[in-house]
Amino acid sequence: MNQLLYSKLPIFFKVNPSLITSVGKICLDRPVMLASGILGISLDVFNRLYRSGAGAVVTKSLSTEPWDGYPNPTIFSVDGGGWINAVGLSNPGAQNFAKMIESNVDVPIIVSLVGSIPEDFESMIMQFKNCKITAFELNLSCPHVAKVGLEVGDDPELVKKIISAVKTSTNIPIIAKVGLGTSNYLNTVNAAIDSGIDAITAINTVRAIAIDVETQRPILSNKFGGLSGTPIKPIALRCVYEISSKYDIPIIGCGGISTWEDAVEFILAGSSAVQLGSAIGSNWIHVFNDINHGILEYMKRKGYSKIDEMVGLAKKS
Ligand SMILES: Cc1cc2nc3c(=O)[nH]c(=O)nc-3n(C[C@H](O)[C@H](O)[C@H](O)COP(=O)(O)O)c2cc1C
Repeated sequence: MNQLLYSKLPIFFKVNPSLITSVGKICLDRPVMLASGILGISLDVFNRLYRSGAGAVVTKSLSTEPWDGYPNPTIFSVDGGGWINAVGLSNPGAQNFAKMIESNVDVPIIVSLVGSIPEDFESMIMQFKNCKITAFELNLSCPHVAKVGLEVGDDPELVKKIISAVKTSTNIPIIAKVGLGTSNYLNTVNAAIDSGIDAITAINTVRAIAIDVETQRPILSNKFGGLSGTPIKPIALRCVYEISSKYDIPIIGCGGISTWEDAVEFILAGSSAVQLGSAIGSNWIHVFNDINHGILEYMKRKGYSKIDEMVGLAKKS
């Protein structure tokens, strides 16, 4: 219904817009989630985020064993609202983490997993058999840790083997998180879809570096890190638009989202939901309800009753 027509309708004809959205088999009350790696791994914090308007929380990426990550400095802020981080995927390991969330009752938790071979992912998924999990997100895109993340995502044959194995070991929806590596990321998307993936998250951080002019050395201990926040938004948006133009697969947009307008842009480009991370640093967790409110007002103004009615509209000629 167009905007002019909608604004002329008597009040009792106007529908109350709903934020409920479906990412394939994953149904969410609200379309804005916490991205992986932000705000730690505590169930208390996840509860607080959910009560503050997040539709779901994605955990820190977990590995088969606990990882320490890199020494400091691991994060650096860049002009224009961005961060370069090389935390090094520090995490307590899947088994320890699974125990920490066994008491979860109502928070939609998406468990992010990182590994090198199919067996890594299969064994981690088994650890969560007593937990209430909404989905697993496979991190195929971390740009700064060797032998996992992008090094896996850049190999479509390995991606196929991992996803095929994972899909036979659980009925819980599986999301592949892709990013920009050395090969065409669309080959990874293609391999994931061929192997039966349920949804795609696009994108992770973008490989980057910062240099201190006085010491004349890279600032981060790992030298390279991943760029996140506002500077990557147009790139992430381009990826969502490209994937949704080429494939019929549910998409979760991620990269540089900090306002309701950003979230709506990603929905119009083809995402059914979005994730945000860096924006928490500047707007704290109020950002979830601010964005939810903004999306609802936009839907009222434009006459949409469901998120689904807006998904991919920007592709219409
Ligand atoms: C400090 C930090 C840690 C991160 N850790 C992970 C991680 O463990 N797994 C993952 O898939 N992505 C990780 N990310 C990437 C985010 O989930 C997200 O894809 C990226 O930051 C882009 O979103 P944003 O611009 O809203 O921050 C991390 C990002 C930051 C800033």
